[in-house]
Amino acid sequence: MIYDLIVIGGGPGGYLASERAGGAGLKTLCIEKANVGGVCLNEGCIPSKTLLHSAKVFDYAKGGEKYGVTAENVVLDQGIVIKRKDKVVRTLVAGVKAKLKQNNVEVVNATAAIKGRTAEGFVVTAGDSEYIGKRLLIATGSVPSLPPIPGLKEGIQSGFCLTNKEILDLKEIPECLTVIGGGVIGLEMASYYHSVGSKVTVIEMLDHIAGNTDSDISDVLLKEYTKKGIDFKLSAAVVKVNADSVVYEKDGKTESVKADKVLVSIGRRAQTSGLGAENIGLELNRGTVVVDDRMRTNVAGVYAVGDVTGKMMLAHVAYRQAEVFINNILGKKDVMRYNAIPSVIYTNPEVAGIGETESTAKAKGLDVEKVVLSMNYSGRYAAENERGTGICKILTDKKNQTLVGVHMIGNYASEIIYGAAIMIECEMRIEDIKEIVFPHPTVSEIIREGIFEL
Ligand code: NAI
Repeated sequence: MIYDLIVIGGGPGGYLASERAGGAGLKTLCIEKANVGGVCLNEGCIPSKTLLHSAKVFDYAKGGEKYGVTAENVVLDQGIVIKRKDKVVRTLVAGVKAKLKQNNVEVVNATAAIKGRTAEGFVVTAGDSEYIGKRLLIATGSVPSLPPIPGLKEGIQSGFCLTNKEILDLKEIPECLTVIGGGVIGLEMASYYHSVGSKVTVIEMLDHIAGNTDSDISDVLLKEYTKKGIDFKLSAAVVKVNADSVVYEKDGKTESVKADKVLVSIGRRAQTSGLGAENIGLELNRGTVVVDDRMRTNVAGVYAVGDVTGKMMLAHVAYRQAEVFINNILGKKDVMRYNAIPSVIYTNPEVAGIGETESTAKAKGLDVEKVVLSMNYSGRYAAENERGTGICKILTDKKNQTLVGVHMIGNYASEIIYGAAIMIECEMRIEDIKEIVFPHPTVSEIIREGIFEL
């Protein structure tokens, strides 16, 4: 059987590309070794957001007094939380399967490897079968980075150390949770387990949390979570994992923290081992598939999208890359741009940002004007957040009079940031943004407030 397109990997990049290709009439095969939906749907974005919503409901129930609401004996049942999470995942996976079927995509549940190339196309093995595709899309995603820290491998084997996958399935809430890495996964899971009662310690190598997030925003997040009771060890490098503790070096001293469970969230790496890239001369750079802005690799007819490209490891980047890929193979010119990609951390309060931060703008030599406002400038934010500490930072390009960055901490930020994405993607002028009518009262009005402060 010769396919027009073989897609390796059924995560957000792979399943969206498969659906679109099948929908456009291409004979499409999608090979996925686990569940369609990938990490995002099965062990990442969706399950973590389900857990975080339960934590938010729990926090609201416990902290209602300041809003005039008291409740007694508020209990979180971890068993029910996990069951609900599994149900949400099952429903969405079924939705993806149905959509693939609706678009006539054939799905094979096996591990694929590229065997080589014949005159007919690329040969891919999966299970005991061989398939030939005229075109190939690699969407194999990423796996957690597990550096050679002494004791870490043994910790993973014994179940003491967990990755993003196992942390979402803990039947019991650990009394003490130590998180290695204060990035996105680390902070979201620290947020959940702190809310549901664990004593949480976060060990982060850098002197700040939340990676590339604008520094004023990550400072507010750090203060909020320190106030809530999470213990942050910054500028601290983990050097060893023991059977019941994590050892780290900070300020030249060796210290350790006891733990019942350890989450290892120190980044992810592209999944290309065993793929057979060498069999077709596919160019890799430190394990990631090298692509251009149309998702083409160095081998004509072979493309890649998603985490495996090592660009920005976000499901929404994979979606857009998949669209760029499909448009290009269908003859419609489209290029991938990374300047208006929103990023969100689903802590409570949420963090969302897009475009340049002050430091990236400076590095690029942009002449920017900045406005930083308390989120309390939004009436709805003030109404719903007693003593809220949220802020919104707006950065504009002085020369072009356009918006280049928006960074927020405060709830609903995740749902508002796409508005800024439109403004940046469309290179709207500040004068034009001033004419947009925002619904009142909404938290989104903070962007309007900021723009009028310029
Ligand atoms: P990350 O790159 O966000 O954070 C890893 C952190 O670990 C960094 O701050 C790094 O300095 C620190 N680190 C590295 N080695 C260390 C060591 N030995 N000791 C202490 N700290 C160390 O990676 P993370 O959190 O694992 O997330 C992986 C990917 O998943 C990211 O690319 C992220 O974008 C994506 N993701 C996105 C989410 C969202 O959009 N809300 C949610 C969860 C994950």
